[in-house]
Amino acid sequence: MTETLEALLHELEEYGASNDAVIAERPRRMLNITHDTGEFLSVLVRASDARRVLEIGTSNGYSTLWLAEAALAVGGSVTTVEFSDFKLQLAAKSFERSGIAHAITQIRGEAGEFLRTASESSFDIVFLDSERAEYPAWLADLKRILRAGGLLVVDNAISHATEMTSFMEQVKGDADFTTCTVPVGNGEFLATLQRSSG
Ligand SMILES: C[S@@+](CC[C@H](N)C(=O)[O-])C[C@H]1O[C@@H](n2cnc3c(N)ncnc32)[C@H](O)[C@@H]1O
Repeated sequence: MTETLEALLHELEEYGASNDAVIAERPRRMLNITHDTGEFLSVLVRASDARRVLEIGTSNGYSTLWLAEAALAVGGSVTTVEFSDFKLQLAAKSFERSGIAHAITQIRGEAGEFLRTASESSFDIVFLDSERAEYPAWLADLKRILRAGGLLVVDNAISHATEMTSFMEQVKGDADFTTCTVPVGNGEFLATLQRSSG
């Protein structure tokens, strides 16, 4: 990782923490993943040689930068989806300063709509960090757009366990997924896909 990117991530961590400590209004909070979750995502992307990475929920781009740095290291890139113009603009500024903007495609739009129109087997890793109540309705498309052997990673599996129960049970009940929950950061739910139909 370059010194520029490391310094930017550090700056975003401080900004996110100080902003979220005083702002109660959810659309204005950054709600970033933790630093160790960033490290974890970086290892997952590198270890699985994930070149086509999708993120649902950009916010100001903190997690995107971790994903993009790792994707770039294996010759890939990240597509990240966000519907808030305020957050899209903050993220665009972060990406411009990062030195790795060329590895990031920002999609302005509603995640459910994006998932419906994305092609089958078009992503190696999907990082889901968005509106948790929507996840159950998105599962069929999440499964369709992941390649066989691909990985779904979902944030807040422990910090918001109750809200996540229905989605996690749905995934665990699908024989095509093998799952686990990792106690890093806010808790990461991992599900790898192996379609029984091949
Ligand atoms: C928890 S924050 C993402 C934090 C970011 N992944 C990080 O760690 O830096 C969730 C984001 O998802 C966005 N979001 C929520 N529901 C969405 C939807 N249906 N479509 C697109 N974006 C959505 C919110 O505007 C918010 O910026």
